[in-house]
Amino acid sequence: MDSFKRFHRLRKNKNLRELVSETRLSISDFVLPYFICEGENKKIPIDSMPGIFRFSVDKLKEEIKNTFYDYGIKAYLFFGAVEKSDSNNINQNAFSENGVVQRAIREIKKIIPDSVLIADVCLCNYKYDGHCCFFKNNESLEIDNDRTIDVLSKIALSYAKAGVDIVAPSAMMDGQVKKIREVLNKNNFQNVAIMSYSAKYASNFYGPFREAANSGFKFGDRKSYQMDYRNSNEALREVESDIKEGADIVMIKPALSYLDIIYRVKQEFNIPVAAYNVSGEYSMIKAASSKGYLDEKEAVLEILTGIKRAGADIIISYWAKDLSKWLEDKNNV
Ligand code: PBG
Repeated sequence: MDSFKRFHRLRKNKNLRELVSETRLSISDFVLPYFICEGENKKIPIDSMPGIFRFSVDKLKEEIKNTFYDYGIKAYLFFGAVEKSDSNNINQNAFSENGVVQRAIREIKKIIPDSVLIADVCLCNYKYDGHCCFFKNNESLEIDNDRTIDVLSKIALSYAKAGVDIVAPSAMMDGQVKKIREVLNKNNFQNVAIMSYSAKYASNFYGPFREAANSGFKFGDRKSYQMDYRNSNEALREVESDIKEGADIVMIKPALSYLDIIYRVKQEFNIPVAAYNVSGEYSMIKAASSKGYLDEKEAVLEILTGIKRAGADIIISYWAKDLSKWLEDKNNV
């Protein structure tokens, strides 16, 4: 009987469990996304994402002052949520000095220089058809990769000029990291880092985001450029190639159906790994908890801990503010 292993003795009470816990969430692991719209004095709720809003730049400044100082969240990911172009071009907001994202970066850096500002680099928020790339023609939907990465690098450069810390290319175009790195370096922005959406799957969990960023597509789907969810070896190849092209951080997206990918990437590569806990993963818990089917806080702590346990160093999540309050309440976690 002496040799009988009893696991319960280290689970006896809360403080003992805390002492031996292997994974701890910290607010400094988190990045909070924001959707930025045109106009002034705007804070518009997004129906499919309860608790999440689109902010105009002036309102976003107030909001981030609050999240930075009162919630202790230091890193933010910006998306433009703007009117689309009406042709096969993109809205000039994408790379103009006065685009909503560029203005937000400039103005927030001015008031909170220590904030870590990350900006998403893609076409879908700016292009009339909602796709992340240009096509050679709209019948064949053959991707115009080179034209797309040219414009992506132009967008990244405009963010760098505004003072961004990290650019995050999410279009899943071949060679996008290399092209962006070249253009940044040529313009003396060696210090701007690249967080690449390396393994971004064609997922059903982006639905609510498309309402938030006004980026739903008019035809086709994203399966010819985003990854097939049946594959994981391919994710390792995508990550490897982004690292070779100059990525500083690699991202897996979404998170919950892809914990094995996070785990494999973390085991295989010695580079910071980010996981994007996407809009659909947020909204489904919100919907279930609003009906009383589960407890939001307990479920979310379990989910976020699972993502970290799988190997994510950085977690991008719409729950960052709630999490900050939950973690402060030490007797509750
Ligand atoms: C755009 C982009 C998407 C998301 C982040 N960047 C949507 C898409 O690829 O369709 C999704 C984020 C979320 O669902 O929270 N390239």
